Amino acid sequence: MTGRSSERGRSAVPAAAAPGEVAITREDFARIVARVHDASGIKLGENKRDLVYGRLRRRLRALGLASFAAYCDRLDGPDGADERVHLVNAITTNLTGFFREAHHFEYLATELLPGLPRAGRRLRVWSAGCSSGEEPYSIAMTMASAMPDLAEWDARVLATDIDTEMVAQAAAGIYPADRVAAVPEALRRAHVQRLDGDRAGMAPRLRSLIAFRALNLLGPWPMRGPFDVIFCRNVVIYFDKPTQRALFDRFAGLLAPGGHLFIGHSESLFRVSDRFAHLGRTIYRKLR
Ligand SMILES: C[S@@+](CC[C@H](N)C(=O)[O-])C[C@H]1O[C@@H](n2cnc3c(N)ncnc32)[C@H](O)[C@@H]1O
Repeated sequence: MTGRSSERGRSAVPAAAAPGEVAITREDFARIVARVHDASGIKLGENKRDLVYGRLRRRLRALGLASFAAYCDRLDGPDGADERVHLVNAITTNLTGFFREAHHFEYLATELLPGLPRAGRRLRVWSAGCSSGEEPYSIAMTMASAMPDLAEWDARVLATDIDTEMVAQAAAGIYPADRVAAVPEALRRAHVQRLDGDRAGMAPRLRSLIAFRALNLLGPWPMRGPFDVIFCRNVVIYFDKPTQRALFDRFAGLLAPGGHLFIGHSESLFRVSDRFAHLGRTIYRKLR
């Protein structure tokens, strides 16, 4: 789990203002919900009022703003584009972990990677919504252990997220040592370096397999693909159905024939996309 997410969870306070605090009105909340949706596709329900309040009040203080209405005006003003980046960074939920939903990595190691066509020896994997990087590093470690001839492959992992702070953390590849405990021991020995204090770093060889980029899944995609595997786990849960439909259609378009898609444990393509066959346990293969 990322430190910021857990900290955010505790900081939420009632939207009704305590003495000395600013209030968030129904209109302010509606404006913020609309800006978040336009910028990221994330749909915030009325039940997220306290969360929005808790996460943005620090931003108001940092900007020296006296009200949420003034903050909304800033979002729509000349510096609005910059502020909307801060807004999205503050609102995203970045919960993640090494080898989260471990069956996906087992499938990758035992079924998918050994079954790749060897002609061309090209492999492209995309971690879409990579948060602080634990997912792409878990993918890269799995590739390194399941493909003894990896050095002979043109193999790359693309790791993207809309949250610019998370992308920077992911690229740095440094984690509290206790978070790295979820990495299986043999992989930890091969790919994780103990740093000073209680920190651990991803080995340079592993980092060199991954390209980290800030990317909004709802915006233009500069990459051409095709990808053999896309991980988009625990991301679309925050999107409405039309946004999910459009996104999975784009994923299908960018996957190679027979390419694989992994989604999160509480997500499904039922009534969302008919372009994939469900192989079970939130693993899908592109049909067309
Ligand atoms: C809960 S984390 C999931 C991380 C990882 N995939 C996992 O399953 O452990 C969801 C991530 O999706 C990102 N996200 C949300 N909306 C996005 C968008 N429109 N484009 C790209 N990333 C987005 C968030 O910033 C967040 O880091």
